[in-house]
Amino acid sequence: MLRYGQPWVGKRRAALPTRLPNPRQEVAAGPLCVACDSADPRLALAVAQRLRLPLEVADVASASGLRLVLSAERLELRADTHGPVYADFADAALRRRLQRAGPRSEPLVRAAGLRIGTPLRLLDATAGLGRDAWLLAWLGADVIAVERHPIIAALLDDALRRARSLPELAPAAARLALREDDAARLLGSLLPDERPDVVLLDPMYPDARRRAAPRKELAALRHLIGDDADAPALLLAALAVARRRVVVKRPAHAPLLGGRPPHHRLPGASTRFDVYLTER
Ligand SMILES: C[S@@+](CC[C@H](N)C(=O)[O-])C[C@H]1O[C@@H](n2cnc3c(N)ncnc32)[C@H](O)[C@@H]1O
Repeated sequence: MLRYGQPWVGKRRAALPTRLPNPRQEVAAGPLCVACDSADPRLALAVAQRLRLPLEVADVASASGLRLVLSAERLELRADTHGPVYADFADAALRRRLQRAGPRSEPLVRAAGLRIGTPLRLLDATAGLGRDAWLLAWLGADVIAVERHPIIAALLDDALRRARSLPELAPAAARLALREDDAARLLGSLLPDERPDVVLLDPMYPDARRRAAPRKELAALRHLIGDDADAPALLLAALAVARRRVVVKRPAHAPLLGGRPPHHRLPGASTRFDVYLTER
């Protein structure tokens, strides 16, 4: 049974792939391990076992290659070529943004039809590092965040774990449940009373027209995850299930996902939201 606003319990977890989903990543990055210093060896072991990766309890500062590092602060993906990649809901800039956040300042809130104080069940089918899911949970939505890449899901799970332990973030964290799964598969398996009001899609976009090089961390993430070429099929799965609407987040200049025209568009300088109404 899918439960909104419940912590991730991994009930439907299938066996994790022993290889990373994107074979290109292995070629480019070499083998991956979980490294941990004195932080919390039991937690590091749990992460390593869940991801079926070797655990190195060592001096993480001198480790090299692509690695997941559990420090006293957080779990992060490190490589020699770019800064750390991690999810963090306690980040000061994010907190400042959220203090002012509402339908006026956040087009995603308008696109999702979220009214502050009114219950909304939302399934974020492409959770990534969870920023959109967190914004919506922060503003009161009950969110299920679905992420299929085991490494990204582990980073997001770590951010949620930390948020739950902070009194000012715990209420929003309690409204955000993480599922590591393929969202198209999950959407297709929902029982009638599990259907979300809104499904949000923000698939990776192959941004060939971008003039400035993306930040190295973003480029690394893109390399790890790939281009989400199956996103048009995910849109169909979402349209079949969402009670009220499907929201697709796209770069402002990107073509329509699957060539399908939305009912509404909320344009922005760099991002736009395409809204597909499904109420029936
Ligand atoms: C651009 S990122 C999303 C960023 C996110 N909106 C945020 O605020 O951090 C896209 C993510 O969706 C995930 N993804 C793409 N298709 C998916 C699917 N069918 N099921 C689950 N996750 C998916 C990718 O692995 C990637 O992590």
